Amino acid sequence: MDYHRELVLILDFGSQYTQLIARKVRELGVYCEIYPYNLSIDTISAMKPIGIILSGGPKSVFDEDAPKCDEGIFSLGTPILGICYGLQLITQIFKGEVGKSKKREYGKAHIYIDREDPFLKGLSDGDVVWMSHQDRIYRMPEGFLSIAHSDNSPYAVIKKEDSNIYGVQFHPEVHHTKKGKEILRNFLYDICGVRGLFSPKSFVELSVEKIRDTVGNGKVICALSGGVDSSVVATLVHKAIGNNLCCVFVNNGLLRKNEAQEVLDLFKDRLHLNLKYVDGEERFLKALENVKDPEKKRKIIGRLFIKIFEEEANKIGKVDFLAQGTLYPDVIESVSFKGPSATIKSHHNVGGLPKKMKMKLLEPLRELFKDEVRVVGKELGLPDNVIYRQPFPGPGLAIRVIGDVTGERLHILKEADSIVREEIERKERFRHIWQSFAILIPVKTVGVMGDERTYANVIALRIVESEDAMTADWARIPYDILDRIARRIINEVPGVNRVVYDISSKPPSTIEWE
Ligand code: XMP
Repeated sequence: MDYHRELVLILDFGSQYTQLIARKVRELGVYCEIYPYNLSIDTISAMKPIGIILSGGPKSVFDEDAPKCDEGIFSLGTPILGICYGLQLITQIFKGEVGKSKKREYGKAHIYIDREDPFLKGLSDGDVVWMSHQDRIYRMPEGFLSIAHSDNSPYAVIKKEDSNIYGVQFHPEVHHTKKGKEILRNFLYDICGVRGLFSPKSFVELSVEKIRDTVGNGKVICALSGGVDSSVVATLVHKAIGNNLCCVFVNNGLLRKNEAQEVLDLFKDRLHLNLKYVDGEERFLKALENVKDPEKKRKIIGRLFIKIFEEEANKIGKVDFLAQGTLYPDVIESVSFKGPSATIKSHHNVGGLPKKMKMKLLEPLRELFKDEVRVVGKELGLPDNVIYRQPFPGPGLAIRVIGDVTGERLHILKEADSIVREEIERKERFRHIWQSFAILIPVKTVGVMGDERTYANVIALRIVESEDAMTADWARIPYDILDRIARRIINEVPGVNRVVYDISSKPPSTIEWE
């Protein structure tokens, strides 16, 4: 069943929690999409949403440049839920009064139910909710009832008497609101009347159908790196069109130990993908000879990758589509989506393959958040070591061998790094770790081994926790584990006599050293 038939629209007024609302709605089995607050009423009605959620936002409704949605949405007969700013906007539109609170209400609060309503099914007096607002309702909008209050907000949940328009002053989407999920479930299932058609299984089924429709008998090419996104894209497209998908896996020699072999074993031997393996190790090493500057390394590696990928594409002959792992956050952060006021976020993965390749793009993961990609990967039968793989930079180990990248130095780093992987990344208890890896520093230090003085390499360990790589902190790994990693590296990797632990946070440092 097509889950788009139960589309919930989220209009974004700039809240830091907007994406969280979307993720919660989807966790409840309902497909939703985020759009800018000023989406036109014609577009909205054409989409036939089953429910509309107005997000929170940093502005006050009485600010001159306060964002407003088209008031036509209130005449569609579609259930609407306003969250925080959304509630205040509803209040203003329906001629209530919003003003500055004397006290900013931030953090935990308790709500008390004033009137029974299906929206609050399963809630009880005193339940904890999470507030984050400065403004509050002073006079109720016309035709609305208060169905719950908190200590500081006499109108914490409101409802339009004769229709399904609701507003909440708190944030049901954040996990501190203890029964937030129940509230959203009530809104979706009891007020909007959804059946909950969105699941990893329905996503895979529909995607397979769509890919077949789009591609027909055409040919698709995909650059497989072994990372989560490209692995899921490749497996999904392969499920849809079999050998009309050709994957190209370029081994640049800058991957972690055994990684190239693992990718081949899984995708070629176990999943039987039509996979072209290109051993580019020597070409990359040659191109990197005597290059120390990290930005130069990045450019050289990026360009050479594209060149090799193009060579391989030309060998295949006519290719109609290029499959890519674009995700939903890339879509909503893109300029064309947000309009001219958008701030352009520059991140490492933009750019990619050249436009002159003249292929149409196939982006089967455009609707998904990262955690949903993982669940879909599981649904497709991919193993945990692919699904929970840590992010890995495109330029690979070249930016973790600080300074000159030689075969010998790469070898030392790969051996040390593989010990970190065994002790951290492969252990379930450390799954919350964002990235854990080794770095080879271009400095030699003195040590003693047996009766001999050594003069050898230093390995740094970088193990960080993060939500999104924008900020990060060093992980408080138990000393005995750090001790074990250090001992193993020094004993097992020839040419290393010292291990240090990086205890800087981002900012002001970065996760990678180069
Ligand atoms: P930094 O070092 O800026 O890294 O804190 C943030 C995240 O991006 C990854 N990273 C890269 N990824 N190409 C990539 O595809 C790159 O050149 C690159 N540099 C850093 C890094 O591993 C971390 O996850």
